[in-house]
Parts: sequence; structure tokens; C-alpha cells
Amino acid sequence: MKFPIRYRHFEKIEKHAWLLGILTAFMVSLGGLAEITPLFMEAHRVQPADNIKPYGPLRLAGRDIYVREGCHVCHSQMIRKLQFETQRYGPYSVASESVYDRPFQWGSKRTGPDLARVGGKYTDAWQREHLIAPRSLVPESNMPAYPWLAEATIDPADIQARMRALRALGDPYSSESIAEAPEALKNKTELDALVAYLQGLGRNRPSPDALKGDAVP
Ligand code: HEC
Repeated sequence: MKFPIRYRHFEKIEKHAWLLGILTAFMVSLGGLAEITPLFMEAHRVQPADNIKPYGPLRLAGRDIYVREGCHVCHSQMIRKLQFETQRYGPYSVASESVYDRPFQWGSKRTGPDLARVGGKYTDAWQREHLIAPRSLVPESNMPAYPWLAEATIDPADIQARMRALRALGDPYSSESIAEAPEALKNKTELDALVAYLQGLGRNRPSPDALKGDAVP
């Protein structure tokens, strides 16, 4: 029996595992590209709103301590648009707030509350005490204590290298701000830096005008 010509082509492919594998990989890659390429374009379209500045030296050091201590394992920094989230945590997060977060801290694991807008919610003194001994303020808390942060001083020596690395990635640090950075970290403890970082979280929300039409600003 003679198969129609197109069917014979398929048969040839199906009977050669290598050919089938290569062509399948090719088709899956095409599908992947069609899905992923528009997202890359979108990422470049996200511009920081005017009021969003890269982290100053102390907050940048604090951000690194936050990542080092694994705070992101229990805390997300992304408020979704759902009403029960916005009622609890405040206005929902938008992409342009995170343009200077490398790596971003969005996450979805919440053993503790979302921290995207925690800046200014408590006093510095509360934040310090809470990090040193969480249960002294919130008796039912299962957050670990981080008492060593109050004793560990920050080494100002490597902040310039960190800022230069971020500048290479596109963060607009001026040469003056990099030159002055070690001064800002003099005699600061890791706790000072982490509290400065926490107190700055969520203060960069774009104005309601920038959010009109609900486009990703
Ligand atoms: C094992 C999970 C866990 C880890 C790790 C953790 N936390 Fe928490 N965190 C919690 C829980 C649970 C709460 C809620 C109870 C409380 O306030 O202590 C909380 C509360 C907080 C709050 C108060 C939030 C609010 O809106 O009331 C802040 C700020 C905070 N954590 C910061 C941090 C920082 C900074 C780190 C890293 C140094 C960290 N947490 C690590 C579980 C965690």
C-alpha cells in the first residue's frame, strides 16, 4: 500500500529517534521563544518613576544583609492586587518600584507578613528591638532573633565595589556618590544598615497619576 506523500515524511521522522528528538527540541524552542521574547521587551519598557532612586550606601549594605540572613525565606515583598492584600499591607506593588532590586525580593512565601510597605510602619527603636528579640514585642512570633547584627560593624571597604558593579548594570550612581559612600558607613553596625533598609521599603510608590490606566509604569 502506498502512503500519501506527507504521511511518509512523518513516518520517516517517527522512526528515527534522533531526528524526532532534534525536531521536537526545535519546535519546543520556537514555542518558548514566542512566550519569552515579549517578556524581555516588557522588562526593558519598565522605567523607574522619577521619585525612585537607587539605594544609598547604608540601605544598600542593609539590603545585602537582608539577603545574607535569608529574610526573604519568610517574607515576600510583593503586594498583589487582591483586596485582602491591599487592605492588610497597603497599595499593591508595581514593577517600577523594584528596578533597583538585584536580586528582586518579590517572592510568594509568607511565613511572616509581606514587607513591601513596612517602611515607616514602626519606629527605628521598634525595628531594632524586634530584630534583636522578636518575642519581646510579639510574644507569639516564630521569627528568629538576630542579636549579632547589633555588634557586627560594617566594613566600609567594599561598598564602592558593590556600587560600581550596580552601575555597570545600569543603576545611575554618580562618581561622587560612590566616592562618598564609605564615609556613610563609618561606625555603623549591621543592625543600623538593616533597619535603614527596612524603613525605606515601600516609600517609592509611583504617584496615582503614573498608575492611571493600570499600565505597568
Ligand atoms: C522563620 C521565618 C522568618 C524569618 C527567617 C524572618 N522573619 Fe520576620 N517575621 C516572621 C513572622 C512570623 C513575623 C510576624 C510576627 C512578628 O512580628 O514577629 C515577622 C515579622 C517581621 C516584621 C514586622 C512586619 C509587620 O508588618 O509587622 C519585620 C519588619 C520582619 N519580620 C523583618 C525580618 C527581617 C529583616 C528578617 C531577616 C533578618 C526576618 N524578618 C526574618 C518570620 C520570619
